[in-house]
Amino acid sequence: MQYKKLIIGNWKANPKTLREAEKTIAEISKIANKIRGVGIGIALPTPFVGIGKKARKILLGVQDVSGDGEGAYTGRATALQTKTAGAAFTIIGHSEMRSYGDTDIDVTKKVAEAAKAKLPFVLCVGEKSRDNDGMYLETIRTQVIRALEKNSSAKKYILAIAYEPVWAIGAHATGIATPTECLEVSIHIRRTLRDLFGERQANMIPILYGGSVSGANAAGFLKEGGVQGLLVGRDSLQAKTFGAIISLA
Ligand code: PGA
Repeated sequence: MQYKKLIIGNWKANPKTLREAEKTIAEISKIANKIRGVGIGIALPTPFVGIGKKARKILLGVQDVSGDGEGAYTGRATALQTKTAGAAFTIIGHSEMRSYGDTDIDVTKKVAEAAKAKLPFVLCVGEKSRDNDGMYLETIRTQVIRALEKNSSAKKYILAIAYEPVWAIGAHATGIATPTECLEVSIHIRRTLRDLFGERQANMIPILYGGSVSGANAAGFLKEGGVQGLLVGRDSLQAKTFGAIISLA
């Protein structure tokens, strides 16, 4: 990976207006300008993707792309359209998209479209709940393998894998993963990537943790969670809270 750490914000359907988005991006840009070696990204709502022109130190991306090419697909935006509109990356397979109906097959198609358009992507994986038999590890392995195994060019465009335990995401989270729980899964994901791509290629792919990351717990994940970065939801919406997390990287 080209950065020491990679910190990506996922803005979901926020903020309310383009103006507010521009203001926050300008504030985050100021912070980014003072930081060396840390990759900083924001996954914007797709209509805002054009605001990136002034924010040269931040990777501005989107949160999803279509798994089909151009054509009669009302409401969708293709990876190539998104890229040519200015996106530097896209998230694929976020648990909220999966909860709206995206299956592993849809995720595979989206990865293929992103790779075809040469659009870097962050692949999100994570279990809905934990069990005592380690089945959650199998779920995660399957998500990684299904998304990547048939896409031979995917390894060239994968920006990161984000481990996001669904039970730890958002305001309705039922718990927060510990750095130790994160470490177990990050080792497991790294092993899965090695099985798929071989050691050298696998070691170049950053693994991020996401799920209620805040200034209070970010350092723990970065130091003890075996991850090379973070995917931050709520606390990426304000430059101040996001800046506090970036400064820990
Ligand atoms: P959260 O969201 O930080 O608000 O839990 C993370 C995500 O959904 O990517």
